[in-house]
Amino acid sequence: MFREATTPSPTIYRHDYQAPAFWIDTVDLTFDLDPAKTRVLNKMTLRRNPDVPAQPLRLDGEELNLARVLVNGQGTSFKLEGDQLVLENLPEGADPIALEIFTTCNPSKNTELMGLYTSEGGFFTQCEAQGFRRITYFLDRPDVMATYKVTLRAEKKAYPVLLSNGNLLEQGDLEDGRHFAVWHDPFRKPSYLFALVAAPLVAREQRIVSRGGKEHLLQVFVRPGDLDKTEHAMQALLQSIAWDEARFGLALDLERFMIVATSDFNAGAMENKGLNIFNTKYVLAKPSTATDDDYDGITSVIGHEYFHNWTGNRITCRDWFQLSLKEGLTVFRDQEFSEDLAGSPSARAVCRIGNVRGLRAVQFSEDSGPMAHPVRPDQYQEIANFYTATVYEKGAEVVRMYQTLVGRDGFRKGMDLYFQRHDGQAVTCDDFAQAMADANPDSALAAQLEVFKRWYSQAGTPVLHASGSYDAAAQTYTLTLRQSCPATPGQPAKQPFLIPVRMGLIGRDGQALPLQLQGDTGTPLLERVLVLHDTEASFTFADIPEAPVPSLLRQFSAPVWLELQGEDEAAQLHRLAHDSDAFNRWEAAQRLMMAQAVSAVQASEMPAQVLNASTLDALRAVLRNPALDAAFKQLVLTLPDELEIAEELDSVDPQRIKMVSEALCQQVAHALAEDWLSLYEAHENTGAYVPEPVSAGRRALANLALENLCRIARDSGDVVWPGKAYQRFKDASNMTDRMGALRALLEGQSVLAQPALERFHALFQDEALVLDKWFRLQATRNDLDGKVLGQVRALLQHKDFHLSNPNRVRSLITAFCHANPGAFHRADAAGYVFWADQVLALDGINAQIAARLARAMDHWKRLAEPYRSAAGEAIRRVAAKPDLSADVREVVSRALQ
Ligand code: ARG
Ligand code: ZN
Repeated sequence: MFREATTPSPTIYRHDYQAPAFWIDTVDLTFDLDPAKTRVLNKMTLRRNPDVPAQPLRLDGEELNLARVLVNGQGTSFKLEGDQLVLENLPEGADPIALEIFTTCNPSKNTELMGLYTSEGGFFTQCEAQGFRRITYFLDRPDVMATYKVTLRAEKKAYPVLLSNGNLLEQGDLEDGRHFAVWHDPFRKPSYLFALVAAPLVAREQRIVSRGGKEHLLQVFVRPGDLDKTEHAMQALLQSIAWDEARFGLALDLERFMIVATSDFNAGAMENKGLNIFNTKYVLAKPSTATDDDYDGITSVIGHEYFHNWTGNRITCRDWFQLSLKEGLTVFRDQEFSEDLAGSPSARAVCRIGNVRGLRAVQFSEDSGPMAHPVRPDQYQEIANFYTATVYEKGAEVVRMYQTLVGRDGFRKGMDLYFQRHDGQAVTCDDFAQAMADANPDSALAAQLEVFKRWYSQAGTPVLHASGSYDAAAQTYTLTLRQSCPATPGQPAKQPFLIPVRMGLIGRDGQALPLQLQGDTGTPLLERVLVLHDTEASFTFADIPEAPVPSLLRQFSAPVWLELQGEDEAAQLHRLAHDSDAFNRWEAAQRLMMAQAVSAVQASEMPAQVLNASTLDALRAVLRNPALDAAFKQLVLTLPDELEIAEELDSVDPQRIKMVSEALCQQVAHALAEDWLSLYEAHENTGAYVPEPVSAGRRALANLALENLCRIARDSGDVVWPGKAYQRFKDASNMTDRMGALRALLEGQSVLAQPALERFHALFQDEALVLDKWFRLQATRNDLDGKVLGQVRALLQHKDFHLSNPNRVRSLITAFCHANPGAFHRADAAGYVFWADQVLALDGINAQIAARLARAMDHWKRLAEPYRSAAGEAIRRVAAKPDLSADVREVVSRALQ
């Protein structure tokens, strides 16, 4: 694929939105599928949009060969301007217009994996955001919604399964060994929800009758050898259908719901109407190949795509700046789904902690770098770059805040009103906010809607500064909350956000104190939600018998940094021991450890010990507390990693951070040695594998204990624990335990690590998703001797490595550059040279994957020397390539700004 060496792509602005000049009502597509030359006949009916001044019809198209254009059956004049097909002389006043366009394309050369492409002997599509224009000329924008009829024709033997959106009308054989299928989707949809699949696949099927008595056919299509890995996906789909009906009253609206797995996919999955296409990673699982995390990932992504059928497909986005309208809302829904499935309060908290960790690791970091943008961006050069943690995960936090402000029932009312008003439409984030407010007229949300909506318009992570003062004479406690928000690109000054602060006060004995705001007469509560909507506000609580320890931002009630002014370690230890909110208990431990890690990084000399004795005692008490479950213990003892520590610092020396992180790990291993031993013994046997939270927690804790025991062995020269880990690795009955043992060997720098890696490869050489793990483990291994980069380079030459497969690239190259800072940021700059080489190589293959890799340098300006200069040089080398994709161009030029 050759790109012209032209000026950078134009910037698109949200404020420039204009309704389309034409509507497309029906689309009738006929595909003659052939890997090298697929022929596409596109017959549409169009209408002028009377609300817009008359203008030529401009259709988007990319990488297409145009053969014929007919208007109402007649030849017509047309122009090709850049990537657009322009028709200036459409007949006046004769709507509807019948337009027929015949093009060809080459799916086998489509390494970008956008539009129609081939993978493992099949045809697949990905159209969001702008892939449909690589299939045919079209008004490729989400506010143009049409009904589609699709005819697929292909060789029967090679492509026995022919799928598209909606219902199957007809299928049969043709001459020359070809066959056909005709699909019709009764729902109007934007082009980004179009899909087709033609491939040698088999399906797990399930028929269900919904509450309303309607019959549905559910199918999960995979390659023939993978059928034994589809049970969990089908289960997750059934749970998703039941959950959306129960929680939101939203039922499946299709006779058929199909899921197709493909191993070449840019994203996780795609919610095409009735025909979801998934990365195999989020479909295939059996105990011997998938870990507990993989099982959870499948549940949440299956849920996510299914939930899009209402939040995304029935109501879609007016334009791509509104992407979070569907993504933030749907991530929120999939998170709630996973929590509801987890069940117990403690298992829910474990879910929440996992989501918040992800948010802070990726989104907070994004928000403090050159790619920072609001949840509803104002501009972009390449929309594919805005499928970000901000739009998805921060967007989900914004939706969660509505629920925190109006309650679960109020949130349901808001959703009901949203569907009542907008079903079948393409709308904006403002429409969603308005429905939520109008359904809850007496809420703090309705009272402060314009302030709340700043979450959509302002980028950056606000800082919430909290300070408390106790007045013993008056028996009152006054909490003062103040907010600020750092500048982000294009937004030097911010207005206050509306921040819901779920909170409680903890007494000296660890009990919750009743909360009565001064002047308030209702029954005192043990927990409440304070709402800060100004720069600063104070809240005074009456009848407080003693100086309390505040517990703020429970369940992480807003996506902010919390600074507790003047708080001492004793208060944090008190929260860790007594907070009724599991999230804040976990958070207290994290804060204690983080503060000490940061001082160790900043100290002029590296301290002998990172953590003090009282922190270690508190961690030990958590491990020994019989009332806490294993999953929670494992999370508390998961130490702040190098990336999290870096995020706290203005000047980042990655090698210094690595030293501290390593010292922290070794200290915790040794200091809690007895506990690791007894925990391992108590949890090592998890019985027959079932992917559910309680036994998953036990596995996680056993694996953490084993890793610590192998770390201890590294220092003492002990060979017993590495030996046990190797044995466990060999005998493991499930992938979670096998990976845990392998990781323990790697962390323990054991001589058995290498033979274990080799054995792992031999065992799983035919399992692509497991090979991805094998590559990732090696790319992210602890780099004590500076050899990891060389190993990664060698792995690029491995017979199982392919630059054209996104999962493989992410496992090796992206994982190394993004997730192994201690190995990547080398004083000799070799990591940056590697990064630049790989970004440039990938850019010629798949610009989206290249742009994601490019973002590994987002924070280069915060690096200390010599890293900073070397990083800058590498970025400038990438930027100097004249025919760079718009995707990578946008990322590197923002980084250099
Ligand atoms: N809508 C899909 C999902 O979140 C993701 C589409 C990804 N597209 C992209 N250009 N990265 O479920
Ligand atoms: Zn989505």
